[in-house]
Amino acid sequence: MTAFHTPLSRRLGLRYPIVAAPMFIISNKEMLLACAEAGIMGAMPSLNARTPEALRADLEWLRAKTDKPFAINMTIGLTPPKRLIADVALLEEFEVPVWITSYGNPTEYVQRAHAKGATVFHDVINLRHAQKAAAAGVDAIIGVGAGAGGHAGRITPFALIPYLREHLSVPVIAAGAISTGRQIAASFALGAELAYMGTRFITSTECGAQAEYKQMVVDATPEDIVYTDQVSGVHANFLKASLPDGGEPTQDAKRWKDIWSAGHGVAEITEVLSIERIVDDIVREYHDAVAALPR
Ligand SMILES: Cc1cc2nc3c(=O)[nH]c(=O)nc-3n(C[C@H](O)[C@H](O)[C@H](O)COP(=O)(O)O)c2cc1C
Repeated sequence: MTAFHTPLSRRLGLRYPIVAAPMFIISNKEMLLACAEAGIMGAMPSLNARTPEALRADLEWLRAKTDKPFAINMTIGLTPPKRLIADVALLEEFEVPVWITSYGNPTEYVQRAHAKGATVFHDVINLRHAQKAAAAGVDAIIGVGAGAGGHAGRITPFALIPYLREHLSVPVIAAGAISTGRQIAASFALGAELAYMGTRFITSTECGAQAEYKQMVVDATPEDIVYTDQVSGVHANFLKASLPDGGEPTQDAKRWKDIWSAGHGVAEITEVLSIERIVDDIVREYHDAVAALPR
């Protein structure tokens, strides 16, 4: 498949400007390796390793198997401070190439990442937070639009990506309901420098999600996605069928283990495939979509 690049993907050394986004509980080291081998970049929340020792083991495993880039996500405000300190030290020690910060102020982490030559992405749902993070020195802003899996914003990616791009001098990464090559092409048309895809990779063979969760994503349509703050206190998108009482969110429903998140990008996901196959399919679709654009 023909490689294609943006300035940011070139800087990172990726064959394709695509990131398999970090997903709490279900992203794992096998996904990071498969992404590296397929020419995209995988990302995992540091907390998916249950302890700092487990994170060390994952990083040792990855470093032994690939010299390609991968990313670790730190959910600043959701991680106990002691754990965060231990995780950051490991990112430094293993020279993790890309640090993704979310849910908090990235300033301290930017300085430490840059001292190690690492690149920092920061996740936002609006311009105000993007400007703060850009002022803190992050290298790129992830604009998480409406319809994204996980904690999603309210602004459609059609508006959010060009809006952020217009007002920021750092590159913008598009997130939210990007599951196919057509949507990747649309992201670049809107001005993004990387396509950041979560939901599509829930249905990868390598992903740690239970078989029932993967099947629910395959079966779901966008009408089956519920946007609510009743699960974790912050608005996020969930699969209706995984919510208690058949879709009525309740305050008791606190655990992402039993309540499954996915975004509007479930629309065109029809089967569980290996990451190698998914990347092959979406890159082919991307090239076909670009070739078919009206001129
Ligand atoms: C199950 C699930 C868990 C997620 N967990 C995290 C997380 O721990 N940290 C984070 O920064 N983003 C998290 N996200 C958001 C993704 O990184 C990404 O922004 C989002 O999936 C992109 O939208 P898409 O799912 O429509 O492709 C999660 C998303 C999903 C679907």
